[in-house]
Amino acid sequence: MNLRRIQREGLESLLAARRLGYRVILLGRSLPEFAKPLVHEFRQVDTYDRAASVAEARKIHAVYDLAGVVNFTEVDVQLVAAIANELGLPGMSAAAALRARNKYVMKDALRHLDGVLPRFAKVTDLAELRAAVEEVGLPAVVKPTGASGSKGIFELRSPEDLDSAMEYLSKIARPDFDPVFRQFGAEFIVEEFLEGDELSVEGFVSAGEVHIVTITDKVTTVPFHLELEHKVPSALPADAWAEIGATTKDIVGALEFDNCAFHLEAKWGRGGLRFIEIAGRPAGDYIGSHLVPLATGVDYFENVVRVATGEPLQLAHDRELNAGLRFVLAERAGRFEGVEGLPGIGEDPGYDHVFFEIPAGSKVALPPRDFGRQRVVAVIARHVGREGLERLLDRVATETSARITAETGPAE
Ligand SMILES: Nc1ncnc2c1ncn2[C@@H]1O[C@H](COP(=O)(O)OP(=O)(O)OP(=O)(O)O)[C@@H](O)[C@H]1O
Ligand SMILES: [Mg+2]
Repeated sequence: MNLRRIQREGLESLLAARRLGYRVILLGRSLPEFAKPLVHEFRQVDTYDRAASVAEARKIHAVYDLAGVVNFTEVDVQLVAAIANELGLPGMSAAAALRARNKYVMKDALRHLDGVLPRFAKVTDLAELRAAVEEVGLPAVVKPTGASGSKGIFELRSPEDLDSAMEYLSKIARPDFDPVFRQFGAEFIVEEFLEGDELSVEGFVSAGEVHIVTITDKVTTVPFHLELEHKVPSALPADAWAEIGATTKDIVGALEFDNCAFHLEAKWGRGGLRFIEIAGRPAGDYIGSHLVPLATGVDYFENVVRVATGEPLQLAHDRELNAGLRFVLAERAGRFEGVEGLPGIGEDPGYDHVFFEIPAGSKVALPPRDFGRQRVVAVIARHVGREGLERLLDRVATETSARITAETGPAE
């Protein structure tokens, strides 16, 4: 179902299915050029239209012997569950898929977990937000219940911040800003601001059994929380790993996720693990496609296909390396011309990949005007030790920068 927005991740998902010997019938809004040679058949459908998409899947199933239905994207979790249920393929229930997609429904189902959740409330307008903040307290975070990709994450530090956050959120929480808002619209969750180091847990749940593959350390930008750096495996100590693993199993079990990859986001602080959210899909940002395989030898995307087809998972680690990624972000809005400093770092064999996320000449913009146009390049590095990895990623931060010129001509 669809492909991830980052082309290289989309390519890796198709290659994983092909390596396992499957042919791919892609159901989606469009077929990118790079995917054409890897897709056996493409069926165009508006995948935000669940009824039309399920009907199309039924037609495909009448012709092909479908082995499974799989999503690598956030917005397709409920649709894939609906198709799996309709066609009798491995998947999760509609109720579990809703819990995966709606940040309020998710937290509501986890209220029994002592000390793990932030205080939280659902709000739809400024009056409700004001009332909720009385209970939740400041600092807090307000965000859409159904978005992804850090679109519209607002920190509330003082009472004045409520008005401007709500004004922005009601402007962006509309389908014409981003189609993701066709799913839950202008519905928001306000949460206690959690302190601590950010992490994510990468795993699978297969026939009710939860498997944890690894934990990722993550750094996000201030104040809009866009992803900046990821490192696999986490440098947290063994007792933290044990607590994180146990709580993750409780959360996945309580939400009744099944037959899917998951990506759980949390913070580790003085109070132990504090839960942000969990997704019923593999991690993006090259974590699933590149960092986990580079660090552990586990082919994460192949296992995404295995879990969706009911094949046994292959999760044995064959190495203990450190892999990480640093994004180069535009520091101002304008036209992206290129990245300074790349040739220098490119000469060091510790860097595995440099991915241009947008071509030179593209328009870049900063949040809160735009949440998806600040990243220009991703650099992936690998080292036998954590300190060595950090040195490589720090060099990306200090030696490279995006070259941005004032924009002329029409926006592309
Ligand atoms: N309650 C909170 N306390 C502190 N930080 C938070 C909180 N909620 C969200 N954040 C920050 O905002 C980021 C994005 O939040 P969240 O994961 O809920 O949104 P998202 O749109 O799903 O983003 P993404 O797709 O990038 O994961 C988190 O990774 C974290 O850095
Ligand atoms: Mg998230």
